[in-house]
Amino acid sequence: MKLGYILGLSAGFHDAAATVIRTDGEIVFAGHSERYSKKKNDANICLNLMQEVCNYEIDTIAYYERPWLKQLRNLRSGQGIDWNNITIRQVLRNQLGSWLQHPPQQIKTYNHHLSHAAAGFQTSPYDRATCVVIDAIGEFDTISIWGAEYDTQGKAVYKKLWSQTYPHSIGLFYSAITQRVGLHPLDEEYITMGMAAWGKPRYVAECRALLEDNLHIGIDPKWLPDAVNEDIAASAQILTEELIYSVMRRARKFGWSSNLVYMGGVALNCLANRNLGEYFENIWIMPCPGDAGSSLGAAALAYGRQLHWKDAFLGHAIPGTYPVDALVDHLLSNAIAGVASGRAEFGPRALGNRSLLADPRGIHIKDQVNEIKRRQKFRPFAPVILAEQADEFFSMPRGWSSSPYMQSVAVCRSPDLYPAVCHVDGSSRVQTVAADGSGIRRLLEAWYDRTGCPMLLNTSLNIRGEPMVNDRADADRFEQQYNVKVFS
Ligand SMILES: [Fe+2]
Repeated sequence: MKLGYILGLSAGFHDAAATVIRTDGEIVFAGHSERYSKKKNDANICLNLMQEVCNYEIDTIAYYERPWLKQLRNLRSGQGIDWNNITIRQVLRNQLGSWLQHPPQQIKTYNHHLSHAAAGFQTSPYDRATCVVIDAIGEFDTISIWGAEYDTQGKAVYKKLWSQTYPHSIGLFYSAITQRVGLHPLDEEYITMGMAAWGKPRYVAECRALLEDNLHIGIDPKWLPDAVNEDIAASAQILTEELIYSVMRRARKFGWSSNLVYMGGVALNCLANRNLGEYFENIWIMPCPGDAGSSLGAAALAYGRQLHWKDAFLGHAIPGTYPVDALVDHLLSNAIAGVASGRAEFGPRALGNRSLLADPRGIHIKDQVNEIKRRQKFRPFAPVILAEQADEFFSMPRGWSSSPYMQSVAVCRSPDLYPAVCHVDGSSRVQTVAADGSGIRRLLEAWYDRTGCPMLLNTSLNIRGEPMVNDRADADRFEQQYNVKVFS
């Protein structure tokens, strides 16, 4: 039987992305538009991204939300209608331009939150799961709970158990707070989360009142004029965690499954994620849980069955063998090295194929890496560690015996020895790497053999203000700008 290809798209809001699924369940490509256009969080599909997709004979396009429903919500919330983006044909024409001159046989659209749920469930190892979706906003839903399972034919079936609608939104609240503390909403929420550890939660009641009042019209810039940003961030984080856990309790009470599939942009809050094991036995968060990941979700819905999930390395390929020996030699002599090898990560985290790596030992390394990254000094870097050694160095939270995609924080057992990868509250956003034969795994093994240290500092390889490095030309520009060798 001839295999077909399904193109999943998410676009028009922020962080546009494309996924291609083959009709035997293989995810053959998934990539972010920003990595090709070099515009951070690019909301639109760029043609360079589509060049990757052109390698496949697409017969179905699956879109991650219902355009006309979104416009209806915009109308109801007083934002007016965009008459050029009401039908899916209009949206695709605007996003794909000339590429749509040979349209595939089928074009399908799916509900925004259902696309999130499917991106999670159909990549998860579970036959049955409770799916929780928490984001800023879908067409109308802002929180949804789904019961998911495969029927006797292997077809994915979703039953909506509960939902919350706009304007009550945990994601919009966190984004509004992100703006209030001087950061970019829908982009820098992770910095707000990092800032929270430096503050005191003095304003939880004020945050709650804000959430219950007029949040949909934004935060008045004069709100809490004397408060320091760190205290606002800490207060918002406390309230956000309280709200997330109340959703988790509600989800568990349906009794559908003790397997949790958690999706939506709020699932990137790795600080809140540390306690998910209090509510569910098993946890799966697809490494790209935000709207970009819903390009995969829409394609998954069109495919209808469980996908073959291997890892998050689904994007642009830089050919060649992972440069293990060269990296170890360079790290031993220079302490810092870049790597751009193999396929790019799908999702916001660099997991070893587009990473800036460093020896995590000692007190000076954080400042050295920050010379390059120029991040806020209050933010730590993340450790990547051999999975079997993780317990010795970190106290992993319940439900997180492994953390292959940096989705939960853990308590560092020796913060004095590894200050660069520990936050002020003693936590670390750990990436554990199992014996999967991947490049980063082989690098950690070789590094451990030579040094006795089973971990490295891992941060994303990007020129400041730009998205993560995608191709070798980006890596060359990085080398020139920062005088740091990037190995391929
Ligand atoms: Fe979303």
